[in-house]
Amino acid sequence: MSAGAAMPPPGPEGPAGVPGTVAWPVGPAESVAASRSWWDDEAAGYQAEHGAFLGDVDFVWCPERLREADAALLGPPAALVGARVLEVGCGAASCSRWLVDRGADAVGLDLSAGMLREARAADARSGVAVPLVQADASRLPFPDATFDLACSAFGAVPFVADTAALTAEVARVLRPGGRWVFAVNHPMRWIFPDDPGEDGLHVTQSYFDRSPYAEADDEGRITYVEHHRTLGDRVADVVGAGLVLEGLVEPEWPPDLDDVWGQWSPLRGALFPGTAIFRCRKPGPGPDDGWGPVAGAGRRP
Ligand SMILES: C[S@@+](CC[C@H](N)C(=O)[O-])C[C@H]1O[C@@H](n2cnc3c(N)ncnc32)[C@H](O)[C@@H]1O
Repeated sequence: MSAGAAMPPPGPEGPAGVPGTVAWPVGPAESVAASRSWWDDEAAGYQAEHGAFLGDVDFVWCPERLREADAALLGPPAALVGARVLEVGCGAASCSRWLVDRGADAVGLDLSAGMLREARAADARSGVAVPLVQADASRLPFPDATFDLACSAFGAVPFVADTAALTAEVARVLRPGGRWVFAVNHPMRWIFPDDPGEDGLHVTQSYFDRSPYAEADDEGRITYVEHHRTLGDRVADVVGAGLVLEGLVEPEWPPDLDDVWGQWSPLRGALFPGTAIFRCRKPGPGPDDGWGPVAGAGRRP
């Protein structure tokens, strides 16, 4: 189904019965088109709402406020010096800027010109500039084995229809021994409405229903889409790309954190995880840096 093709007006409603959502499959091209225009339109608003929480030169993995400075999910800080790092779906690129500040050779990649404009503004504000590339993460414009590390804080992965293709592309551009660490909505959140309050505690749909959450305009054009994948699907993408899963982090909600970020809230955070962070490695020679316990982020099995 090509992006922009006229479709009948939306309805029946999407899986969760939310008005304006649709219940039909949304393919890779339609997802890219919808995400590009949605994030272009939402860039300034997103930055206005979350910019202070994320910072201009900081690596915050998730609304549970887990910081790379504390978690070292990418590996020991010393190994970042001189490392070639790709940030996938960087948005305003605060993580890439933090990596550059730690001596890494980082590149931020995003689909949206609007989000990359926010990144340029943050460069100017912080005085730390990062190289930026506008592209679809499912078709990375880099040669094989270019990067030592690839990372993503809710960037691109939740919004692409073909998650296996994206994972294979990341694996392709990693050198042997390189690491891919990505944070996404915790798959169990899919069964609940996107609500930070009491209503967000009641199951409304099946965990195994992979139909996307999609919104459409009156002509039936998809305007926003998020693709659900179960934990098993995510692991299958990793293994299918020839990567090894080193660990899964489910950040716990810090008791002193009152911020509500969309569906993330202290109420729900105290009861179940909102984020899942997958730590993967491409087989090959790499620093055996071991991976100890991380405060508040779960333990090594
Ligand atoms: C939730 S924002 C996260 C941005 C940033 N990582 C952060 O933590 O603020 C999702 C980002 O993914 C980008 N994105 C969505 N689909 C993409 C795709 N197919 N390729 C690259 N980036 C994509 C959006 O443009 C947006 O900047």
